[in-house]
Amino acid sequence: MNEKELIDSAVAAMKSSYSPYSGFSVGAALLTCSGRIYTGCNIENSSYSITMCAERTALFKALSEGERDFEAIAIVGGRDGRITDGCPPCGACLQAMSEFCGGDFTILLFDGDNVNKHTLGSLLPESFKIKKQ
Ligand code: THU
Repeated sequence: MNEKELIDSAVAAMKSSYSPYSGFSVGAALLTCSGRIYTGCNIENSSYSITMCAERTALFKALSEGERDFEAIAIVGGRDGRITDGCPPCGACLQAMSEFCGGDFTILLFDGDNVNKHTLGSLLPESFKIKKQ
């Protein structure tokens, strides 16, 4: 995996963030096992609760193109369009990832200075699952 390329893609995606209500931009870049990168940003709405997170934007873009196998995601976020925070995915995004990704799926968090490497299993040790019939 080219971690720098994945992080650079997340940084570029963050520029498309539509976040006039929180002022907090997030960018994500999702790497498939076949080597493709799908990017996403957060997209807010004046009906606040329908806001979509960057991670799920990227995931749903990839899924809707038929992708099902994922290796890693890079995430960046911060105020006023700058990377000011390490930005771990929210619980809803972790749960969405867990539908398609195993515990060894890599989650890269870039805070502007350092890359912190996590796995889905470490950030969400137990996910809700319904056994397929
Ligand atoms: N946000 C994300 O894009 N990803 C997360 O995992 C958590 C939060 C966005 C949603 C909202 O637009 C802004 O960050 C502030 O909550």
